[in-house]
Amino acid sequence: MSTAPFTTGAPPSERLPVTLPQLADKKRLGEPIVMVTAYDFPSAQVAEAAGVDLVLVGDSGAMTVLGYPSTVPVSVEEMLMLTAATRRGLRTPLLVADLPFGSYEASNEQAVATAQRFVKEGGAEAVKLEGGGASVERARAIVAAGVPVMGHVGLTPQTATALGGYRAQGRTAERAADVARDALALQEAGCFAIVFEAIPAAVAHALMERMEVPVIGIGAGASTDGQVLVFHDLLGIREGVGARFVKRYADVQSEMVAGVRAYAEDVRTRRYPGPDHTYSIDPNELARFQAAFG
Ligand code: KIV
Repeated sequence: MSTAPFTTGAPPSERLPVTLPQLADKKRLGEPIVMVTAYDFPSAQVAEAAGVDLVLVGDSGAMTVLGYPSTVPVSVEEMLMLTAATRRGLRTPLLVADLPFGSYEASNEQAVATAQRFVKEGGAEAVKLEGGGASVERARAIVAAGVPVMGHVGLTPQTATALGGYRAQGRTAERAADVARDALALQEAGCFAIVFEAIPAAVAHALMERMEVPVIGIGAGASTDGQVLVFHDLLGIREGVGARFVKRYADVQSEMVAGVRAYAEDVRTRRYPGPDHTYSIDPNELARFQAAFG
C-alpha cells in the first residue's frame, strides 16, 4: 500500500445513528428523507460527512464501480465486498444493501439466507429487493427473520428486459394500478420503506395517500417522503447522459481526469517528484552506505 494506513473507520460525528423509528417520524413530520448510494470506503465517508439519512449499496454498483453493462451479473460475493467496504466508512446513516438478481427469487429460504449474509458479513442494517409478485412473500419472510426490508417498485432494473427496457413505468391506468398493487402489497408484507423508481409524478402523488411507510423516490416527483440518487450520477463521476431524473451537482469525472493528466505531464517533464516529495538521509549514514555498496 502506498498511502499510510487509516487507523480509524468513519470520521467522528456528533450525530447519532439513524434508526427505523426516526425514518417513520420524519415521514410523520413531513421532513424529507435523504438517501444516496455508496459502494466503497471513500464514497461512504462522503455520505457520512454530508449527513445523509440512508446509504444504499445499490446493485447499480455493478455498473458504476464494477463496469458491468447492467445490474444483472453482479454476484452476492461482489455485493458483500462493496457492502463491507461501505460499512467501514459509515457511522450514522442507516445502511441498506441491495440483494442482487438471482439471490432471493427462488424461495423464502434462499431470500432469508442471503439477507442474513448481508447483515452478518456485510454489516448492513437492512436489505432491499426489487418488484412485487413473488418478491412480496420473500420480503415477508426476510422481515419475519428479523431483517428490515426496503421494497422497490416501478422501474426495477434487475428485470428491465421484462419491463421493456430502462423506461418509466405506470404510464397507463393499468400499469399504474400494477405499481400501486405492488407497493401496497410490499407495505402490507412489512417493508419499512419503499423505493418508487421512474413513475409519473401524478401517479406517485396519488399513491402517497395510501402509503403508511416512508417512500423514497427516484424519478417519481416531489410528493414522496424522500429522494435517492446514484452517487456517480449526482457527482458526475461517469460519462454519458443520465436518466431524465438525474440532477448533476458536480463534475468530478473531469476534475479527476484533469488531475491525473497533470500528474502524467509532471512525471514526463520531470517536474514531479520535487525536493518536497523526497526523504533525506544523514550524510554520515549515506557515506557509510556508499562505502559499503559504492
Ligand atoms: O441500485 C440502485 O442504485 C438503486 C437505486 C437507484 C434506488 O436501486
